[in-house]
Amino acid sequence: MHAGTKRIESNFEYLRKLFIMPDSPDKFIEFGIELLEMIHVFFQKEAGIHSSITLPQLSGIFDQTAIPESPMLIKDVLSEIKSKIIDHSVKVGSPCYIGHMTSAIPYFMILIEMIIAALNQNQVKIETAKASSFVERELLAWLHRLVFNRRDSFYERHIHNPGVALGNVTSDGTIGNLTALFVAREKALPPDDGFAGARAEGMAKALQHYGVKRAVVIVSARGHYSIRKAANILGIGEENVITISVDSGNRMDIRKLRKRLRVLDPRYGGDSRVIAIVGIAGTTETGNIDRLDVMEEIAHEAGVHFHVDASWGGPALLAEEYRGLFRGIEKADSVTIDAHKLLYCPMSMGMVLFRSEKDLNAIKHSSQYIIRRNSVDTGRFTVEGSRSFTCLKPWASLKIIGREGYGLLFRQARRNTDIFKKILEKYGNFECLNHPELFILTYRFIPVDVKERLLCWNREAAASAEKRKTFEKGIARVNRLMNAFTVKLHKELRRDDSTFVSRTTLESTRYRPHHIVVLRAVLINPLTTGQYLEEIAATQNRIALQLWQEFAPAYGRMAEEVGGSIPYQMLESCRIL
Ligand SMILES: Cc1ncc(COP(=O)(O)O)c(C=O)c1O
Repeated sequence: MHAGTKRIESNFEYLRKLFIMPDSPDKFIEFGIELLEMIHVFFQKEAGIHSSITLPQLSGIFDQTAIPESPMLIKDVLSEIKSKIIDHSVKVGSPCYIGHMTSAIPYFMILIEMIIAALNQNQVKIETAKASSFVERELLAWLHRLVFNRRDSFYERHIHNPGVALGNVTSDGTIGNLTALFVAREKALPPDDGFAGARAEGMAKALQHYGVKRAVVIVSARGHYSIRKAANILGIGEENVITISVDSGNRMDIRKLRKRLRVLDPRYGGDSRVIAIVGIAGTTETGNIDRLDVMEEIAHEAGVHFHVDASWGGPALLAEEYRGLFRGIEKADSVTIDAHKLLYCPMSMGMVLFRSEKDLNAIKHSSQYIIRRNSVDTGRFTVEGSRSFTCLKPWASLKIIGREGYGLLFRQARRNTDIFKKILEKYGNFECLNHPELFILTYRFIPVDVKERLLCWNREAAASAEKRKTFEKGIARVNRLMNAFTVKLHKELRRDDSTFVSRTTLESTRYRPHHIVVLRAVLINPLTTGQYLEEIAATQNRIALQLWQEFAPAYGRMAEEVGGSIPYQMLESCRIL
């Protein structure tokens, strides 16, 4: 307990006042203002991104194993929240925080969150969510139209038709993907003569009934791990998520998809039922978009549900110039979109939309006490039970920011992505490793001479069959060294804490099949200006050059052992070491 904090004697009258109204309306507003000021100070602080407190120190702060016995004053708990939590929270809104999809949020979102908490609606049923159920249906219609753009009459008929649902508001993209694959599973293994459906009888009976050994889901190697989780929960099995490798643009290799479908097909000796083909519109690691139009054709030709995981990229559809990248999404069966990513809403809210208003009927539930069969309750169509009124956030922001506003935000994100790429290229010591379509850049620090030597070895390997093995081994060794370097660099950048980018490993770079550890920048923060990007690159270059001193001798030995001709300009550039 904090020094000076007071325990109060349990007193029903005091507790009752906490519920119906705080002690007095003045107190409620007083605490509210104090809280907003606390939040404001947090944003004004210039300190590092992560606070210097260590994880063991944090465990020391939160080490009580017993629930507090007697009540504490609100003001004491607020001050504890400030010193123990707010001061040690990650500044994800910092202009130098460009590492994840969680970014700055507009300030009005904090106020909207207050309304959501104050109203405390439960979206599961109309008895606990009256106007808010209609807000949800309206929002789903907006997004449905954005993705599928069906006729006006379709929306007029279904926006408030309680017999169907155009989609679900979910707690996140993971549940959105799970819901889509749940529907896909029911469509792929439906009730039939003598069989009540996978939902009723389970997967073992379903596979037996349909005469196949397994059910599978197909996604590219860039697929988000939520697809594996969904397969697990749905009894499909993680091993039955088939990943198809990607091309150099991080998009599913279509030739391999076609080939794999044939191998799986019982008509050609296969043993599987394909539950869904999943396209990705904005891959988590690289922000690229699958060839949705081609995948859609293939899926529907094969009679398979086509789901698009647009958790990350979906909102880019709001800007006309991005629609071309998503060609084919309008024919998908289902699409997941997160509001807490590119719609700039606070954590967390996802949506899953179904092209056909009938699809969600496949997972419809009812219960006597809450979501009765003939009710208008949205909870009949959702995997989740109680749900908060989170849809108010994108509903309000799509009004406050509007399509035009989002278009401007995405244009700025695009500009920042290009600017950052140019800055890194100007240094010469960096290598960009993807073609960013949606604001995610992957790259690594690699001294100019190392980069050029790898190129030379590549050329020599291609030119001389005799020496190919030696040079290829050399490339693999140097890349392994660079991978270890990038991991260490990332740790050093975390230690410095003035900037933040994330890290991942890709097999799809120009060095394939070698796996390359890369730094990953997500450039969506509207507060990040060109000047901040210059600072971020300068910091990374400075720290990387220092760290390279540790790695340079090992690299020098490798270079000597492998040999090969070294062009003059490369010798020149070695001076940077
Ligand atoms: C492409 C993609 N799909 C799904 C998810 C999962 O979303 P959530 O974290 O909201 O559950 C993510 C998260 O980053 C993602 O990038």
